Amino acid sequence: MCGIVGVVGNPNATDILIQGLEKLEYRGYDSAGIFVTDDENGQLVKAVGRIADLAEKVGDKVAGTAGIGHTRWATHGKPSEDNAHPHTSQTGRFVLVHNGVIENYLQMKETYLSGHQLKGQTDTEIAVHLIGKFVEEDGLTVLDAFKKALHIIEGSYAFALIDSENPDTIYVAKNKSPLLIGLGQGYNMVCSDAMAMIRETNQYMEIHDQELVLVTKDSVEVQDYNGHTVEREAYTAELDLSDIGKGTYPFYMLKEIDEQPTVMRKLINTYADENGKMTVDPQIVKAVQEADRIYILAAGTSYNAGFASKAMLEALTDTPVELGVASEWGYNMPLLSKKPLFILLTQSGETADSRQVLVKANEMGIPSLTITNVPGSTLSREATYTMLLHAGPEIAVASTKAYTAQVAALAFLAKAVGEANSKQEALDFDLVHELSIVAQAIEATLSEKDLIAEKVQQLLSTTRNAFYIGRGIDYYVTMEAALKLKEISYIQCEGFAAGELKHGTISLIEDNTPVIALISTNEKIAAHTRGNIAEVVSRGANALVVVEEDLAREGDDIIVNKVHPFLTTIAMVIPTQLIAYYASLQRGLDVDKPRNLAKAVTVE
Ligand code: M6R
Repeated sequence: MCGIVGVVGNPNATDILIQGLEKLEYRGYDSAGIFVTDDENGQLVKAVGRIADLAEKVGDKVAGTAGIGHTRWATHGKPSEDNAHPHTSQTGRFVLVHNGVIENYLQMKETYLSGHQLKGQTDTEIAVHLIGKFVEEDGLTVLDAFKKALHIIEGSYAFALIDSENPDTIYVAKNKSPLLIGLGQGYNMVCSDAMAMIRETNQYMEIHDQELVLVTKDSVEVQDYNGHTVEREAYTAELDLSDIGKGTYPFYMLKEIDEQPTVMRKLINTYADENGKMTVDPQIVKAVQEADRIYILAAGTSYNAGFASKAMLEALTDTPVELGVASEWGYNMPLLSKKPLFILLTQSGETADSRQVLVKANEMGIPSLTITNVPGSTLSREATYTMLLHAGPEIAVASTKAYTAQVAALAFLAKAVGEANSKQEALDFDLVHELSIVAQAIEATLSEKDLIAEKVQQLLSTTRNAFYIGRGIDYYVTMEAALKLKEISYIQCEGFAAGELKHGTISLIEDNTPVIALISTNEKIAAHTRGNIAEVVSRGANALVVVEEDLAREGDDIIVNKVHPFLTTIAMVIPTQLIAYYASLQRGLDVDKPRNLAKAVTVE
């Protein structure tokens, strides 16, 4: 979702902006633009489509020492050059980029901007006209105009503003949308996430909601909206430039799928010592012990990872686990237990829906734990506790290694709590050993890529729809498998509880409907799922069976190594990630950047 970069005091401003925008591509966008100035002349270039299109338009004619850039994911107004950022004020003097949604933009237009000519339909353009009006028509200083606008604007935003007459300062503010300051040597930057600037620096400074920052080449001044100075320390980001390259991979998604054995091993090294003893933060363990119910709130793949972990968490902690769709819970909080603990599962740590739940939880005094891949992310900062996924940057929009890391991280938490409660099942569960077996099982599946690609070619090459079916924890994996297939191959797909099909949905099965069945856990469940496979095949479906090795029969298609039942959802999801990958690849689609989607969904 929209991304922002900005730089002041560097003669390579154009390159920094373009490279920064490339690094933000993974967030999802439909158009992009930059404004670059050399003190005297400002140049604005925008393009619909990819950053490569923008870079081509920019060529080598745009140069300067300061500038701002933006990738836009359309909310107000269609993708077009007029709606792409940066936007300019009525006279063109002020230039603004924005991530978020301004809720009262139409009111602002009616109240303040009669006679103003707007080029597009965006809320952002109204914001920059407002700032321009306060300076050029009402005589305020730029800082006072920006502050006045911030007091009026309602909604979510990260702003970076340049006054083209005095481009030595970038004016920055944020509320509910991510933005960071990057500290360079003799120049400074702003960016939506650290990755956009990791080539230039690993020194960053957070901005909190409702703070305004004045960024010049050699200073960063943080203020609240009333002008009081706020002291803020810089921090070092633990990102490695090599983590964010694609290397020889055609797509990030494949690289990230392949990284999963390493991620499992990294989690072992992080959350267990050399004797296999859990090293999960004791305060987090205590928070879980004190809760009478765990609520996992999340969106998309993270929500599915919550389901994939529910049975294991309940078994090891003896605490009931309830799942909630974050976008629903932010506004429709159900009746809660007396001592709830909220776990926010979020790869990015920036998902606006999940954050909304956390804001509510904080208002209600509910303890919270964010489990995220991004240190210093908004949800990490605002929760009572944080546990990190250590999966390395996930760039492909389709989440893969974050899902498996989330299940594994929850396993460490569950085992640590179970041990603290002296629960025999937890004491007997040798997680370090079992997770190494999972890492090997993943490797075994990854070595079957050609087979999986061939099966996908046979089953999914022309279909418009498909089903995944499974029972018990396999059903939870089908939810994730279906989401992955839909999101990157555009095949309409449903993950279904196998036994539920015959209660209505089986009427959709016709000749050649692809049905992918997942079978794990035990003979009894396997027998029932096989019965359901027979039902669909006798109605014309083409079935593909993904099965754990001890339950496999002759003719089954993809065999997954046996792992501990608590961790089966990790091993079983891997073939489904590859199925989605090859379905997308074989259709000639952009695997990493599916249409209409964003990596970090920072608007509600
Ligand atoms: O960053 P989060 O884990 O909070 O993101 C939640 C969803 O937006 C995300 O999992 C989304 O569903 C993925 N694109 C799925 O692959």
